[in-house]
Amino acid sequence: MVSLQVEHLSYTYRESSKPALSEITFKVRAGEVLGVIGLNGSGKTTLTYCLCGIIPHYLKGTMQGTVLVNGKNTRETPLSGLSGEIGIVLQDPNLQLLMPTVEDDLAFALENHCRPRREIRETIDRVLELTGLAELRRENPVRLSGGEKQLVALATVLALNPGIIIFDEALAMLDEKASERIVAVMQKLKDEGKTLVLIDHTLKGLQLCHKIFLMEEGRIIRRGPRESILADQAYLRRHKMMI
Ligand SMILES: Nc1ncnc2c1ncn2[C@@H]1O[C@H](COP(=O)(O)OP(=O)(O)O)[C@@H](O)[C@H]1O
Ligand SMILES: [Mg+2]
Repeated sequence: MVSLQVEHLSYTYRESSKPALSEITFKVRAGEVLGVIGLNGSGKTTLTYCLCGIIPHYLKGTMQGTVLVNGKNTRETPLSGLSGEIGIVLQDPNLQLLMPTVEDDLAFALENHCRPRREIRETIDRVLELTGLAELRRENPVRLSGGEKQLVALATVLALNPGIIIFDEALAMLDEKASERIVAVMQKLKDEGKTLVLIDHTLKGLQLCHKIFLMEEGRIIRRGPRESILADQAYLRRHKMMI
């Protein structure tokens, strides 16, 4: 089964004359872990916006080509129809945490999806267990450490049980120990057969990947199995990637 199918995708922001993405084509199968690397401004975040439907539903630049998420065309599917299929964890968890307690944050997304009360309780218990946050369920997310906040943000995404999860530099603001906790959850998700897209420059995150794309100026300039991409250090250095 194919989780993500992207064909001839190009995107130009409304305020810009230069495309942020040009002619991107790839497939990710169910259960695969894709790593995406590239310098700042190479188009990684724009690509994730296209995968989860923020483009074209919120950002109204010019999009060409197609993105299919579990077979659903993002152009024709409202965000509410995509959020059960694909979730995104961002660099700054503060943007994803809105409620006075951890469990309220988790309940919020589920209530928006009109899930029954009993299912909401069971789901909250499941994701708190998975992310190791059970003891913090009544805490205010504002008072948690950066790593704990990122785990809560991840838990809110997992609450909707999407088959595909994108991590857009989700480790970038975290110290070593906090990163390890997130990577441990990524590993569990991989073992469960989730499809993951990891935008990451650290070896720790990339070790989980089956294949890696290198982006430059809105294009995928190199792609292949993790081992072969990481083995060619000379090529990566020429493109200013230090991994
Ligand atoms: N809201 C925006 N409006 C106009 N241009 C943008 C906007 N967001 C990003 N860009 C441009 O799109 C290109 C790709 O950016 P981005 O996808 O954020 O790259 P990355 O995540 O790899 O750092 C860059 O040239 C950036 O300046
Ligand atoms: Mg980015």
